[in-house]
Amino acid sequence: MSDYTTTTDSGATCFRCCFSFILTLGLTSLFMWLSLRTSNPILSIQDIYIPALNKTLNSTSYKSVYIDLKLDNVNKDKGIYYDPLNITLLYYNQSNSSGIDKIVSPISNYTLRGFYQGHNKHTRRKNWTETYGLPVDGGVVFKLDLETKIRFKILFWKTKRHRLVVGADFEVSNLGQKVQKKGTRLKSGVPEYFSGKFQLRMLLVSFSSFALVLV
Ligand SMILES: *[C@@H]1O[C@H](CO)[C@@H](O)[C@H](O)[C@H]1NC(C)=O
Ligand SMILES: *[C@@H]1O[C@H](CO)[C@@H](O)[C@H](O)[C@H]1NC(C)=O
Ligand SMILES: *[C@@H]1O[C@H](CO)[C@@H](O)[C@H](O)[C@H]1NC(C)=O
Repeated sequence: MSDYTTTTDSGATCFRCCFSFILTLGLTSLFMWLSLRTSNPILSIQDIYIPALNKTLNSTSYKSVYIDLKLDNVNKDKGIYYDPLNITLLYYNQSNSSGIDKIVSPISNYTLRGFYQGHNKHTRRKNWTETYGLPVDGGVVFKLDLETKIRFKILFWKTKRHRLVVGADFEVSNLGQKVQKKGTRLKSGVPEYFSGKFQLRMLLVSFSSFALVLV
């Protein structure tokens, strides 16, 4: 005890005290950032069936399409509130004689109701949806786009809404079924690490509080 009251040691004590304070704050902000960090859900197309493209049925009168999606909340301890999910089905119109082969034509849209998904939960959404202007030939590349807004539930509070825009291409065989047997993951054009504004802000808050103590 007496060591701490002598004048010769006070400088070192102050330094030690300051140092552990900075260290504690640094670790706290790092821990805060790690525990508030969120991951977007993993969305994928599990199955697609387009009867109009099933050559063995030999009928193009079918107008509907079957879509089976999987939504996977990969967060270990954060729930997700989904706003209504807007889904658009398109195909690459390659029959354009002008040589432009990247024209996408929408053929269907539908909306899934918003819902809450607990941490580590996954769920399927299987729907038949009406289409317009389906291509008549198989071997076509399709595209599914999904747009929604999500909020994360962290302990007792909800984050602000942020946009989730993802999509994927897939091929359909001439039996009308998605060629890839495995799930096709819907991806965002922006790398996930940079897409979460919330995440970036938390990182900034952590770092600036750390830096503040250093100066
Ligand atoms: C295509 O149609 C045939 C004949 O009706 C049917 O047996 C087959 O199951 C259909 N294909 C798929 C992928 O459902
Ligand atoms: C082909 O592409 C051109 C240029 O985008 C467009 O003006 C034309 O309408 C397209 N034709 C068809 C048949 O889609
Ligand atoms: C989904 O579609 C509805 C109706 O068109 C629109 O009001 C809403 O803003 C869309 N949501 C997103 C996230 O784009």
